[in-house]
Amino acid sequence: MRVLVVGGGGREHALCWALKRDHPHATLFAAPGNPGTAQLGTNLAIAATAVADLVTAARQHSIDFAVIGPEAPLAAGLADALRAAGTAVLGPSAAAARLEASKAFAKEVMARAGVPTAASRSFTALDPALAYIRSHAEPLVVKASGLAAGKGAVLCDTRAAAAASARAMLAEGSLGEAGREIVIEQFLAGEELSVLALTDGERVAILPPAQDHKRLGEGDTGPNTGGMGAYCPVSLATPALLERVRREVLEPTLREMAVRRTPYAGVLYAGLMISADGTPSVLEFNCRFGDPETQAILPGLAPGVSAQFLDIARGAWRPSREVLAAERAAVTTVLAARGYPDAPERGAAIDLPENLGSDVLVFHAGTVRDLGGTLRTAGGRVLDVTTLGPDVPSAARRSAAACERITFDGKTWRRDIAWREIRRAGAA
Ligand code: AMP
Ligand code: GLY
Repeated sequence: MRVLVVGGGGREHALCWALKRDHPHATLFAAPGNPGTAQLGTNLAIAATAVADLVTAARQHSIDFAVIGPEAPLAAGLADALRAAGTAVLGPSAAAARLEASKAFAKEVMARAGVPTAASRSFTALDPALAYIRSHAEPLVVKASGLAAGKGAVLCDTRAAAAASARAMLAEGSLGEAGREIVIEQFLAGEELSVLALTDGERVAILPPAQDHKRLGEGDTGPNTGGMGAYCPVSLATPALLERVRREVLEPTLREMAVRRTPYAGVLYAGLMISADGTPSVLEFNCRFGDPETQAILPGLAPGVSAQFLDIARGAWRPSREVLAAERAAVTTVLAARGYPDAPERGAAIDLPENLGSDVLVFHAGTVRDLGGTLRTAGGRVLDVTTLGPDVPSAARRSAAACERITFDGKTWRRDIAWREIRRAGAA
């Protein structure tokens, strides 16, 4: 089997790792990949969004199966183009990827399907948006409808702050195309949960849920980032809660997408807020695997999950619950560069010891190997350090210990990944 993984971050390295574990004889390609994926296969120097070039490369390399990591190529129709050229693909069509690429569209789908989510309205013109904000309770949330690489949601304590955000996006073009339409919504309190499900458009298999850590600083302080760490499983996600998510969120959304003749197949990621009384509401849908959630979810699963990816891509899926249960707990700590998320420094030499331990996996996110063979930082999130263990608190301790041993100038990381779970375990 010849497999192409599209993307070049920690998520894609983790996908390559899982594919290679489950299919040791598979020939792997990553585009563009990174020094981590280069250890498992061949990197192709093609950007993840270069749709035509990727279709050509898939043909040249006789790719049987492609997994698309990031949202931008999915929104640009890469899955459609590869499928049209005869490659089996895990990833939704461009029409179905609108669930992530347009928050206004996702809100419309959820309203029609009766999926619980914050009350909201969408606007393309400033004056009606300002009028809505004047009548809205505080706090409130202003979101760019389009893809904004994690910068699109602004939590506003006051109506004045919300008006300023709406003005910046709609009138001043602060987020470009992504902010030409905005969603203004009610603020929801609670604890966030990432529920990733595999689906063929009808059936759903929920992967063990994870929790991301979006803020840069320990104790969930500082600016929002793409995610500073994740852990899996999350005890907040009881079987009863996940059953509710399946019935109230995932299945109605898939039915509505099918009714619209844009069936959704691939990974459906529901970013949820769980209120104090345990009610789930959708903050957003993503049309792909989460990053860094994937780096914590895949290593803890029993081997075999990538066979399910392939079956979904081929339209011949029989969901298997066994391989989708978390066998071990996993904690992923992100090592970021100084200056992340605004202006990460690049070029620092990385000292990555070989012998970090058998339960430690280091996924490359933003690294390059220079001409002399030295590994250097090359992006905001540099490495994702996943450690496995019998439970989340012990995996968390080992992840932090491994992170201490990896060094580069400007290393920026949180020692408190999984703190909510550790607090819950202590209280139990
Ligand atoms: P989104 O891009 O919609 O996932 O939003 C990014 C982050 O903003 C989420 O992970 C939450 O931390 C926060 N957020 C988004 N919407 C809301 C909301 N309605 N209430 C509270 N927090 C929110
Ligand atoms: N970890 C958040 C995301 O993948 O969107």
